[in-house]
Amino acid sequence: MDDKRYYVTTPIYYVNDVPHIGHAYTTVACDVLARYKRAQGYEVCFLTGTDEHGQKVEKAALTKGETPLELADRVVKRFQALWEKLDISHTDFIRTSQERHKKGVQHLFKKLLASGDIYLGEYEDWYCTPCETFWTETQLMDGRCPDCGRETDKLKEESYFFRMSQYQEALLRHIEDNPDFIQPRTRRNEILSFVREGLRDLSISRTSFSWGIQVPEHEQHVIYVWFDALTNYITGLGYPDDSNLLFKSFWPADAHIIGKDILRFHAVYWPTFLLAAGIPLPKRIFAHGWWTVEGQKMSKSLQNVVEPNMLIEKYGVDAIRYFLLREVPFGLDGDFSHAALIHRINSDLANDLGNLVSRSTAMVNKYYAGVLPNPGSFTETDRNFVELFAPVVQQVDSQMNDQAFNKALQSIWGLISAANKYIDDSAPWTLAKEADQQERLGTVLYNLLEAVRFVALLIGPFMPDTADKIMKILGQDASCPCLADGSSWGGLTPGVEIAKSAPLFPRIETE
Ligand code: ME8
Repeated sequence: MDDKRYYVTTPIYYVNDVPHIGHAYTTVACDVLARYKRAQGYEVCFLTGTDEHGQKVEKAALTKGETPLELADRVVKRFQALWEKLDISHTDFIRTSQERHKKGVQHLFKKLLASGDIYLGEYEDWYCTPCETFWTETQLMDGRCPDCGRETDKLKEESYFFRMSQYQEALLRHIEDNPDFIQPRTRRNEILSFVREGLRDLSISRTSFSWGIQVPEHEQHVIYVWFDALTNYITGLGYPDDSNLLFKSFWPADAHIIGKDILRFHAVYWPTFLLAAGIPLPKRIFAHGWWTVEGQKMSKSLQNVVEPNMLIEKYGVDAIRYFLLREVPFGLDGDFSHAALIHRINSDLANDLGNLVSRSTAMVNKYYAGVLPNPGSFTETDRNFVELFAPVVQQVDSQMNDQAFNKALQSIWGLISAANKYIDDSAPWTLAKEADQQERLGTVLYNLLEAVRFVALLIGPFMPDTADKIMKILGQDASCPCLADGSSWGGLTPGVEIAKSAPLFPRIETE
């Protein structure tokens, strides 16, 4: 039973920014994994949420004349509304300001304090406020933060430290023994060399601000945001009480999906906290690439932040979900442009998929009054066509397990192209005119509509709304696109009524 459970997480997003296309990207990717596993009969836990503590949020609230919690309450609604619009099927939404989270973080902190993995010391180093990170003198680049290039401040404060240095060897061994633990490979290599250079103990409390979770019994200390934030992956399952047994059933996570910007926190800090606490490590951390916009870095100052709500309104939710995962190999950087999006919609969705569905359903309506005919005996063309399908289910499965979304979509589109070619090669319009070709016409149309059903099953996790629409056109129960049961050839029963379909993706005309 254990292997039929799947736990996937997004990063929890900062509330000092409103959601943009980058946040949508990670969340859609996780949603596709969650839906795919559900379609295979897995019980899925899919966690997303918001990271609400820290100096940045405290400062942002101050400038807006709000309390940090008021700011968070306002921004959280925007994330939640966007996830609804994007058809995100998360099973829980965690906010770090929630009591359940606070309790879990303090529990973990106390546990590591008791074991001696956390100790009280004094800190003096260069602090980058936007990155919430301390740097040593030698790590600075021309006196500035090596990550974001901004100015740093020299800070000296009493601080609790986590003995990260103690776990360097254990972490190295784990990364080396588990080649899939950090993906993609290039990122894994970066982390390996970072760890090999040596891990320092990590300052994990602050006294310079107050918006955060307090250190138990030492309340002027606030727990470092990353210790707080990373712990969401277990507090979201009910750690430490685990009254619903979610932690017991779903931990370790199958996949933490994150952007490359926060890999070090996830692949070094988080596993060492877990090693110290004796909690198993997540099975995979996948760091995807970053989107630029029309060739430029997305930033508020350039006013080029791509607002997902606007895109969904203009192009439709499934077109956006498809584009994000098809355009760029997961793991690499990519560029967002309206031209590329429109090109994908017109060629892949309107032309390839949309035409396949409308041509096939129109022919059953024209030649058989909308009633699916019986297939007769197969020619070699039919056999070659039908035999393409089952192997693609296996192929897509291994691609999905590698988070190679664009490859999975390419495999599915291979079937769509083959089906369009099958129409052209079999020329049903010619068969329809010949009295002795009626059985063959029935075979071709049955195979085509069955191909459409198959494609709808496979695209379901990526484009749930489109898959539902197609299933309804085929007279199928849209609520159960179960890959586990439905992915063998012959699922459609002859005699079923096939509806006429309006274009699924109207072409977008550009000047
Ligand atoms: O880092 N392209 O939150 P965050 C692709 N709270 N993805 C992008 C992107 C872009 N241009 N910009 C952002 C945090 N992202 C922490 C996480 S987790 C325990 C704590 C995505 O609001 C990407 O997934 O800054 C990145 O990791 C995430 O948004 C960062 O969101």
